[in-house]
Amino acid sequence: MSCDLLITGVRPYGGEVVDVLVRDGIVESVGSGLEAPDGVPALDGGGAVLLPGFVDLHVHLREPGGEESEDVATGSAAAALGGFTAVFAMPNTDPVADTAVVVEHVWRRGVEVGLVDVHPVGAVTVGLEGARMAELGTMAASRAQVRMFSDDGRCVNDPLIMRRALEYASALGAVVAQHAEDHRLTGGAQAHEGVVASRLGLQGWPATAEETVVARDCALARDAGARLHVCHVSSARTIEVIRAAKAAGVRVSAEVTPHHLLLTDSRLRGYDPVNKVNPPLRTAEDTRAMREALAEGVIDVVATDHAPHAVQYKDTEWQAARPGMLGLQTALSVLVHTMVEPGLLDWRGVARVLSERPAEIGGLPDQGRPIAEGEPATFALVDPDAQWTVRGEALASRASNTPYEGMRLPGAVVATVLRGRITARDGKAQE
Ligand code: DOR
Ligand code: ZN
Repeated sequence: MSCDLLITGVRPYGGEVVDVLVRDGIVESVGSGLEAPDGVPALDGGGAVLLPGFVDLHVHLREPGGEESEDVATGSAAAALGGFTAVFAMPNTDPVADTAVVVEHVWRRGVEVGLVDVHPVGAVTVGLEGARMAELGTMAASRAQVRMFSDDGRCVNDPLIMRRALEYASALGAVVAQHAEDHRLTGGAQAHEGVVASRLGLQGWPATAEETVVARDCALARDAGARLHVCHVSSARTIEVIRAAKAAGVRVSAEVTPHHLLLTDSRLRGYDPVNKVNPPLRTAEDTRAMREALAEGVIDVVATDHAPHAVQYKDTEWQAARPGMLGLQTALSVLVHTMVEPGLLDWRGVARVLSERPAEIGGLPDQGRPIAEGEPATFALVDPDAQWTVRGEALASRASNTPYEGMRLPGAVVATVLRGRITARDGKAQE
């Protein structure tokens, strides 16, 4: 397959218009008026903003076992269309990705589909049951080369297991990604604990259930000298814990989802389960704090927590519905709407939170690289002036549980390039 490409008329990080010549998947030259050598295909950028390909540290691809909601092929297509060139697939599958066999399966499917680099996340505990540690070493040594471990969907609540996991992961050069939720405080919870939940008669998920686990884990990471990554921060209070830990030299990083940047629990009034997610949508004060922390760098990255659910799991009464929302194809637009348009992030900042920092945290040396000669040609091309209306049915995911149905959002990914190969273009994933 050809990995030669001439990309014309693009603006790296939103700057001056240039052309980019790619040979063998590597940027050979960046300049103006470049000509395509014989047989090299051209991609007209049309003035698009050129960014390093996006890296998502948190997606659910549902394979194996949940293929009625998504699989590696449909999830990879959604990722490529969203501008992503690498994703980390969470292990809450069936069977759980807690052995070398399962992580290698997910990894191999990613390679076969070839639209995006799929990095399986290994479970911390056997079966995500929180009782016995999984064999992190064999997953790290497998062909999937697992470098992130998480029980996402559930929290590693046992402090001794969390401590050991941090120690083992550290020895393996890996990071533990914690879904911070004290299950003793959230048992039966259905919504953010606050005025809206009270009015609706839904049991509350207190923000302290997140804050306290993050505080504990920062102390454990400090003692182990290990790297901790905090998944989907949802509460303003948690930000203060992370800020203090970072100031004290703890090796902690954090992510926020697009939906926790934009949506609040006021959306719950119609009891539409499309808004049910874990951690829950919180208040406008929280979304404001998330945006500020992301601009400041206290929160390092945006990760989607892309959580497809087939209609039978979502189109049901609130209590029975599964938590989670689609995110891959809307992430860039929500970021433009919440951060770029209000002036909180420029395009360099977008590259930092969607490409560079996630690649560093996930340990991917050839992603999130500078746009320069000699670097991998792995890009997202973004039309900042586009506007589009979200239709769940039109998204590439097998499921259509988007909370943005019918919303008009700014900014669109017009093409995605992975090591010189076009993986998405004009709204179509390229098989
Ligand atoms: O809303 C969520 N959905 N939160 C999680 O932690 C898990 C995820 C899922 O797997 O659907
Ligand atoms: Zn989670």
